[in-house]
Amino acid sequence: MKGTVFVELLKMAETEFGEDVVDNVLDNADLDSGGVYTAVGNYPCSELVTLVTAFSEHSGLSGEVLQKAFGHWMLKNFGDNYPEFFKDKKDSFEMLEAIDGEIHVEVRKLYPEAELPRFSTSRTSENTLEMHYSSPRPLAAFCHGLIEATTEHFKQRAEITQKVPTNANVNARFEIRLVDQPAEPPVHAD
Ligand code: HEM
Repeated sequence: MKGTVFVELLKMAETEFGEDVVDNVLDNADLDSGGVYTAVGNYPCSELVTLVTAFSEHSGLSGEVLQKAFGHWMLKNFGDNYPEFFKDKKDSFEMLEAIDGEIHVEVRKLYPEAELPRFSTSRTSENTLEMHYSSPRPLAAFCHGLIEATTEHFKQRAEITQKVPTNANVNARFEIRLVDQPAEPPVHAD
C-alpha cells in the first residue's frame, strides 16, 4: 500500500491518542519497515492491519471502529488533495459510481503500484445505491467509513448497511439509502 496511507494513519492516531501512544505502538510492533514510512514508499498492507490492531489494543476501540474512522480521515485527505475528482459530481451516488471506472483508474495512472479494490454499483431504487466491494485486503470497514464520509461530504443523510455478500468474489455489499433531509428552518424577517 502507498506510504501516504500509513503516514495518514499515524497522523490520525497522533491526533486521537497522542504522540506517546504512537511511539509506543511503533516501538513494540514487529514491523519489517521498522515503523518508518515515507509518503512515496510502498509497504505491505499487513503492516496496516498490525498497526490498526495495536491501536485497537491501546484504545479499547474495535479494529472495525478504527478502520471506519480512518475512512473518514482519508476522505477528508482526498477532498483536500484531489478536489478535481469531487467537483464535477452532483451528489454522493455519482461520486461512488465513479470510483471504479474513473477515480481509481486515474489513481492507477498516477501510481501504477497502487493496490486498489474493485467496485460494482447498481441503483436499486431512486434513493438507494448498492455497492459491491472486492479486494484481497481486509479493509471492508475502512471502505464503509469512506462511503459514510462521501455522503457527508455531499451533505446528504444516508443509512448505510453492510450486508452479507451473496457472491464469493465480493468481500462486502453495502446498501446506501438516502433519507430525507431535515427541512430548512423557515426564514423569519425581523
Ligand atoms: C478522490 C477520491 C479518491 C482517491 C484519490 C482515492 C485514492 C486511493 C488511493 C491512493 C488508495 C491507496 C492505494 C494503495 O495504497 O496502494 C485508495 C485505496 C482505497 N480506496 Fe480510494 N480513493 C478515492 C475515493 C474512494 C472512495 C469514495 C472509496 C469508497 C467507496 C474508496 C475506496 C477505497 C478502498 C476501500 C481502498 C483500500 C484498498 C483496498 O480496499 O483494497 N476510495 N484509494
